[in-house]
Amino acid sequence: MTRYEQLLQELPQAPKYWLITGVAGFIGSNLLETLLKLDQRVVGLDNFATGHQRNLDEVQNLVSAEQWARFQFLQGDIRNLDDCHQACEGVDFVLHQAALGSVPRSINDPITTNSANIDGFLNMLVAARNAQVKSFTYAASSSTYGDHPGLPKVEDVIGKPLSPYAVTKYVNELYADVFARTYGFTTIGLRYFNVFGKRQDPDGAYAAVIPKWTAAMIKGEDVFINGDGETSRDFCFIENTVQANLLAATATDEAARNQVYNVAVSGRTDLNQLFAAIRGTLVENGVSYAKDPVYRDFRAGDVRHSQADISKIQRLLGYAPQYDIQAGIAQAMPWYIRFLK
Ligand SMILES: NC(=O)c1ccc[n+]([C@@H]2O[C@H](COP(=O)([O-])OP(=O)(O)OC[C@H]3O[C@@H](n4cnc5c(N)ncnc54)[C@H](O)[C@@H]3O)[C@@H](O)[C@H]2O)c1
Repeated sequence: MTRYEQLLQELPQAPKYWLITGVAGFIGSNLLETLLKLDQRVVGLDNFATGHQRNLDEVQNLVSAEQWARFQFLQGDIRNLDDCHQACEGVDFVLHQAALGSVPRSINDPITTNSANIDGFLNMLVAARNAQVKSFTYAASSSTYGDHPGLPKVEDVIGKPLSPYAVTKYVNELYADVFARTYGFTTIGLRYFNVFGKRQDPDGAYAAVIPKWTAAMIKGEDVFINGDGETSRDFCFIENTVQANLLAATATDEAARNQVYNVAVSGRTDLNQLFAAIRGTLVENGVSYAKDPVYRDFRAGDVRHSQADISKIQRLLGYAPQYDIQAGIAQAMPWYIRFLK
């Protein structure tokens, strides 16, 4: 039995109290769904900057009335320290997901990204430390590898950040590390590598590649590839990310705490392969798309290749990703077809 399978059996026997910031977003709402299905108590904080009430409504429909009654939603902002204090009250584990994602957004508006991702992060750290939570697990990012050319990416070898967003995510790691050393507080950073799955927003200028392309194909619109299509990523299905969060938050081994981990599958898929995989899976689900992709310029701030070494998280947290990219796309496509039709 894997450590995660064991945890899934243990948690309902001894429910804990969790805070998910960014609960109305993609990753936050998937964390919420899993925790409520495990009979946990959850408080969620979100200001709906990029999240949606519809994500919370969908979770409500996927859990029992009794499970949903264990969830409390606070509409609030991590840039407001009082909201953070209120959210942290009595909490065992914090899963801090709230932030403004997207490299291009941060290039267009670095000040707003900075205030949510750095000021908001620091507020959450202070509030969680004051509330003496058992652990503070936070969404870090593979963008922290910046311009370092090495592959696969190993946690302690990073380059210079390539965007304001990457700066903010790196500063999060620095603050979390200092809080761990200075206040004896447990922090665990999870460097997510291109997470995808149901409820990831397909709309808006800053949508991620998988939902954006999926929506375009379902609607019969053009799919744009930035660059030559050989840019590659380690796409990570949401269920693997949820697993990493639960393992990190509940880790008791001293060596596993106050660390930063890559969260991915250690695969490498280029954009041309991704296009084919999404199109192929949509066809299997009855949606055909006959157009070829439209190639255009490379995008500023983008890293050329990204692939994670996941041996650290496997070794210290017992992480064992259950989905590769193909299995994840097979799960995600029927959801997008239902959502968009
Ligand atoms: N999705 C990915 O591939 C990926 C990769 C690396 C890191 N991350 C990080 O994971 C986290 C979650 O990302 P996601 O993909 O679910 O994005 P998302 O936009 O769907 O979710 C973020 C949530 O945070 C909320 N939020 C933003 N600013 C807030 C504020 N000031 N106060 C309260 N709530 C606020 C938004 O309303 C939204 O619900 C983010 O920290 C992001 O930087 C995501």
